[in-house]
Amino acid sequence: MSPGNLMEMVKVEHLTKLFPVRNRLLLSISSNIRAVDDISFEIERGKILGLVGESGCGKTTTAKLLARLLAPTSGNIYIKGEDIAGLKRKGLKKFRKNIQMIFQDPYESLNPRFTVHSTIAEPLKAQGLYDIEKIHDSLEVVGLTPPKEFLFRYPHELSGGQRQRVAIARALVIDPIFVVADEPASMLDVSIRAGVLNLLLDLREKYNLTLLFITHDLAVARYMCDNIAVMYNGKIVEMGDAEAVIKNPEHSYTKDLLAAVPIPNPKARRERRKR
Ligand SMILES: Nc1ncnc2c1ncn2[C@@H]1O[C@H](COP(=O)(O)OP(=O)(O)OP(=O)(O)O)[C@@H](O)[C@H]1O
Ligand SMILES: [Mg+2]
Repeated sequence: MSPGNLMEMVKVEHLTKLFPVRNRLLLSISSNIRAVDDISFEIERGKILGLVGESGCGKTTTAKLLARLLAPTSGNIYIKGEDIAGLKRKGLKKFRKNIQMIFQDPYESLNPRFTVHSTIAEPLKAQGLYDIEKIHDSLEVVGLTPPKEFLFRYPHELSGGQRQRVAIARALVIDPIFVVADEPASMLDVSIRAGVLNLLLDLREKYNLTLLFITHDLAVARYMCDNIAVMYNGKIVEMGDAEAVIKNPEHSYTKDLLAAVPIPNPKARRERRKR
């Protein structure tokens, strides 16, 4: 049975992922890395939750757990009330359609030997839903028009921004209900970064998408997200309305993160130094 109310698209409870550290000589497990350490949060339908934190704090591991590219050590992941934490192969395949992930590096996430057409066709074929019209529509939605100009290009024949748009088209073509975007714009040049971020915001408006948006940049999180969760050492140390978290950070780690964000106004910068 689904706990909570129907407004919650995503509900994570006590999610934990340990990675074993092996002792080379003994080939035994000497200890565990607590990459994700007992985290809980909810995301309402159509909302964007930002997950921020320094490198190595567990953001990508959280993303992969939610997309079920990794199996959790313990905890629950309810998507529309169904717990996907323990799903195995067959159940996972059925559920895969509902959750899609957009990765940081479009160079890595796109197969260099696949054309745009085969890249976007792949998830459709896996679900038995192949339809060229859907591929055309998805390219139009992400602004790669006219679609036929892009269909038979390989990743190396696209710009970085275009590649990330293909990755987004691929994620959206099977109408997921929840999308996990792991630093989707941070590898891109600043001149095209805003375009990709705005595209995600437009798609959220258009399809009422629910998003987990990962970034290490609080300014980007403020721009993109309704709520923000701050992660530190595998744990969520602070969570709340995006503006509130940024204006009145409670945890010292959030304050440190904010202090690292460049402030364009020199007066404000001086004020901050004084504190
Ligand atoms: N497959 C794995 N095996 C062992 N340890 C791992 C594995 N994947 C991640 N880790 C460890 O788990 C911790 C969290 O890693 P994760 O990739 O989730 O961090 P992150 O917050 O995404 O960092 P970044 O901002 O650099 O992308 C790190 O200490 C990392 O070394
Ligand atoms: Mg990461």
